Amino acid sequence: MVTHWFKNAVIYCIDVDTFQDGNGDGVGDFIGLRRRLSYLAGLGISCIWLLPFYPSPGRDNGYDVTDYLGVHPALGDLGDFAAFMDEANNRGIRVIIDLVVNHTSNEHPWFKAAEEGDPKYRDYYVWRKEKPPDTRDQVAFPGSQSGVWAYSRKAKAYYFHRFYDYQPDLNTANPEVRAEIKKVIGFWLALGVSGFRVDAAPFVIAHKGPEIEKQPHESFEFINEFREFLSWKRGDAVFLAEANVLPSQMSQFFGERGDRMNMILNFFVNPHLFLALADESPEPLIRSLLQVPAVPENCQWGYFLRNHDEIDLSRLSEMERARCFEAFGPEKKMQLYDRGIRRRLAPMLGGDVQKELLAFSLIFTIPGTPIIWYGDEIGMGDDLRLLERESVRTPMQWTAEANAGFSTASPKQLRRPVIDFGEYDYHRVNVQAERRNPRSLLNRLERMIRTRKEFPEFACGKYRLLESDQPAKIFTHACEDGEGKAVLAIHNLCGERVAAKIRLWSDTFAHAVFLFDDTDDAEIIGKDLPIELEGYGYNWVRLTA
Ligand code: GLC
Repeated sequence: MVTHWFKNAVIYCIDVDTFQDGNGDGVGDFIGLRRRLSYLAGLGISCIWLLPFYPSPGRDNGYDVTDYLGVHPALGDLGDFAAFMDEANNRGIRVIIDLVVNHTSNEHPWFKAAEEGDPKYRDYYVWRKEKPPDTRDQVAFPGSQSGVWAYSRKAKAYYFHRFYDYQPDLNTANPEVRAEIKKVIGFWLALGVSGFRVDAAPFVIAHKGPEIEKQPHESFEFINEFREFLSWKRGDAVFLAEANVLPSQMSQFFGERGDRMNMILNFFVNPHLFLALADESPEPLIRSLLQVPAVPENCQWGYFLRNHDEIDLSRLSEMERARCFEAFGPEKKMQLYDRGIRRRLAPMLGGDVQKELLAFSLIFTIPGTPIIWYGDEIGMGDDLRLLERESVRTPMQWTAEANAGFSTASPKQLRRPVIDFGEYDYHRVNVQAERRNPRSLLNRLERMIRTRKEFPEFACGKYRLLESDQPAKIFTHACEDGEGKAVLAIHNLCGERVAAKIRLWSDTFAHAVFLFDDTDDAEIIGKDLPIELEGYGYNWVRLTA
């Protein structure tokens, strides 16, 4: 089976400033992260995705950049970055980084020059003399943002900002801006990264400002341009797009020949997966999988459960969203932007390790690349006292020692407080404690990661949904490698034990080897495979002739 590395990767997403403090100042940094690479190697992940670590005023967790070619001084310097890259290489771990080029910070020197009237930089952004009509429906963060135009007194004009008003949009229609973006891409590739998570991809290529209503809305050729540059510089480098668009628009982001984004984060299946967990029924998940387009052979979906933002339920109907809220975020303080939930995976699932593993098993087996948000592998909780999306960005819980082993600074100095209350208190939930317990989420997930890597069929095989005599409860699919080998994944979405017969597509299989739990091998009679699963149970099955 031909596999591009990213198709068979397991990605782990890290916010450097909350992962490990290496110099005792209360902020995570590259020195600390480098020390924790042995943990990540042990866990078995193959690629790290770093959230923005650039110089930034930090008003949007680093998504407001003031220098694309540097490292935030609190996190280290380029030397620390290079040392981290070197060590990651030694461990065989690739690194991709966030590319945040839809907008800069309003403190970026480009924007300052633009405000002061420098004609070159003026055209790096999107301006209008008159205040455009009400734009409340165009905002990215309802409730925290009142429109997409803000007035600059210095410039005596309005500038366009899709996100917060301190994040002026770059005018990507300007070839000089695109040249800057390519310079950024080239720079980090030269330092060894394997690609970029492209922040807010649809907005990067959107027609901005007064052009917003013009058809077509986007310039997809910009992605081709960036991708061509990327691939020329480094053949195996990839773009992982944050493209939260309708299924009908997804194919354009891949490009017909897979010559645009290599991977797209699947924001459509994600809420449907949670709806399936809420309804205890595979139906919504199956429906969404059938709705998203087929992926070009050289491309891949990126699947995640939770990430650094709120979980976005806006692709669900109002009733479906209400069911998800009820199941996973019933209180107002758990919800955000009228569309999402700002909790971590473990509290959403009631701290039920079996359910967490079921959810992980789903994103590890549907064809795509699984992405783990740091801390979810140990079932970390959230801090709803923190603002907006910060609730899920608390420091990594390593041990039961002070500050969860994250930092030796005084608690007041910490970048964000550690979770020291309730069920997810770091004294109980931490890496060290889970390491010792063979049945812990961490140890079982580690095994899942290893098994996933042993079965690249899940990543690149031919995939099919299977039928069973328990269609309301179990979700079953198979992946074949084209050489007669096949692997099955079975998931019980409901809380009760279930016995079922799974209908295979061919009668050439005689024997089933179960990969998890102490399940005995089974003989296959005709096309029927008998299985049994505990409530919220899952298993993967190797079929042999
Ligand atoms: C993306 C990021 C989010 C950020 C926004 C603006 O959606 O995931 O965290 O606030 O872009 O950059």
